[in-house]
Amino acid sequence: MINLNFIATPARLLGWLPGAILSVALATVPGLAQAQTPAQTPAQTPASAEQIKRGAYLATAADCAACHTVPKTGKPFAGGYGIDSPLGTIYSSNITPSKNGGIGSYTEAQFERALRDGVRADGAHLYPAMPYTSYAKLSDDDVQALYAYFMQGVPAVDGAAPKTALPFPFNLRFTMAGWNLLFLDHSRFKPEPAQSVAWNRGAYLVGALEHCSACHTPRNAFMAEQGGNPLAGGQLGAWYAPNLTSDPVSGLGGWSQAEMVQYLRSGQLAGRAQAAGPMAEAVQDSLQYLTDDDLNAIATYLKTVPAIHLAHETQAPYTFGAAANDEVLLRGTSPVSDSNIPLNPAELFSANCASCHQAKGLGTPDQYYPSLAHNTALGHANPSNLVAVILHGVDRTVDGHAVFMPGFGADSLVNPLSDEEIAAVSNYTLQRFGNPAVRVSAADVAQARNGGPPPLLARVSAWLRRIAHFL
Ligand code: HEC
Ligand code: HEC
Ligand code: HEC
Repeated sequence: MINLNFIATPARLLGWLPGAILSVALATVPGLAQAQTPAQTPAQTPASAEQIKRGAYLATAADCAACHTVPKTGKPFAGGYGIDSPLGTIYSSNITPSKNGGIGSYTEAQFERALRDGVRADGAHLYPAMPYTSYAKLSDDDVQALYAYFMQGVPAVDGAAPKTALPFPFNLRFTMAGWNLLFLDHSRFKPEPAQSVAWNRGAYLVGALEHCSACHTPRNAFMAEQGGNPLAGGQLGAWYAPNLTSDPVSGLGGWSQAEMVQYLRSGQLAGRAQAAGPMAEAVQDSLQYLTDDDLNAIATYLKTVPAIHLAHETQAPYTFGAAANDEVLLRGTSPVSDSNIPLNPAELFSANCASCHQAKGLGTPDQYYPSLAHNTALGHANPSNLVAVILHGVDRTVDGHAVFMPGFGADSLVNPLSDEEIAAVSNYTLQRFGNPAVRVSAADVAQARNGGPPPLLARVSAWLRRIAHFL
């Protein structure tokens, strides 16, 4: 299992609510038996190499591996990745074509139902940690190509993934049916005839395949995407997926198409933004492999997403800050390692950050170590990404090149910092290089360490469990 307090997963906190009824026992038996009768044996007609290749590209664009492959050690798509939701750990399924633990017995219709409706072959409901609310919009052609790839292009790996065992009431998968009734839109993607081919392709990639909205749209109390605020920015545990609408202050209105493409392809736009945490994973596992046409299509579409302005934001996040240098003030003071002296934020910065981001905070000339001034992580009114990056660091490999910043959380290999120290260095960097109106408290840091602000659903779950105790 992956401990998300320390590693961000892409799927982190994808919204969802309790699920289905008759649990595994009732569900598994008839469904599987049926699926194995000869008439329904899947993948009898060999798909063309062309279709399997297209399916492989779609699986990359949809980032199926992000959740279904255990990073670094796991066999492709063998599942078992523990997605730590606020309600407990959900394990992704083995989606290789093995008939022993995988989806080898799935017919195309059953595969389609899992992808678009969130229902397993045995009839049990999936938790929306599997982004079927986005995949519901996939085209028939794309579902077919994905099926061809998963049945005929992926090596089978035997063995089922660990079973997910959430506490009551979330173990009741049938309750997901009610959630789906409220929050699952079954309609497929509908092209806008008035818009260009590129725009429509972009809308499809953003809304269905790449499921950007799963992270970038805020969630309601039931952990479903807020329909009225598409792409207006969402909290993902300790991280914040910023506003992607065309608003020039809160969103991407000030980004050119080329700048968006550059960021999405590499996770880095010098002098503006870097991708860490869940966005680093989206870039590393999926976006870097998209064609130029597809990346441009995404940018074309994003340029037109209706602006949503966040009331408290007055200035674009990458316009704050300038070089600052307090090293001269530090001369003659005791070294920061002397734990008897009170916290000196400038010293904390000098000792822990300046070696890479440089004393003036402007980074190295090549921007491998980026400038902190004009950096969105320090400019958004929501400082989550600053705190999260200090706790967890950056680890992203694109095109064979690794980008690495060590974390300063409890497991730090360099120097674990306390909540007070992280708050102090955050406020120092915000004052010097970022949005000076934003403050971080030690309590904020403690909350980020524990996975960020719990959604309402997770908060009521403890209460529901107490009630269950008396039943
Ligand atoms: C954000 C994480 C995530 C992504 C991305 C994702 N999945 Fe899943 N998927 C899951 C989880 C978690 C489960 C198990 C959910 C449960 O047990 O309720 C699951 C379950 C499934 C199942 C049901 C299998 C079974 O019998 O248990 C299928 C089929 C599936 N995924 C296919 C896909 C495909 C194909 C893609 C890419 C197009 C994909 N998934 C992308 C998280 C993800
Ligand atoms: C798994 C969650 C997730 C997915 C999927 C995702 N993002 Fe992000 N995105 C984030 C997070 C978190 C950040 C903040 C990263 C940071 O600052 O280190 C981010 C940052 C960004 C930024 C930079 C914004 C800024 O102000 O710095 C852009 C642009 C962006 N994402 C676009 C997209 C697009 C387009 C897609 C779909 C193609 C997408 N993202 C998919 C989570 C996600
Ligand atoms: C060993 C070098 C190193 C040290 C030390 C270091 N950083 Fe970083 N930092 C990096 C690298 C590399 C990146 C990512 C660059 C990229 O993504 O292209 C980064 C990125 C960042 C970002 C942008 C993250 C985002 O998600 O947008 C912030 C903010 C930041 N660092 C702050 C700090 C602070 C504050 C400290 C001290 C507590 C610190 N760094 C220490 C190397 C370092």
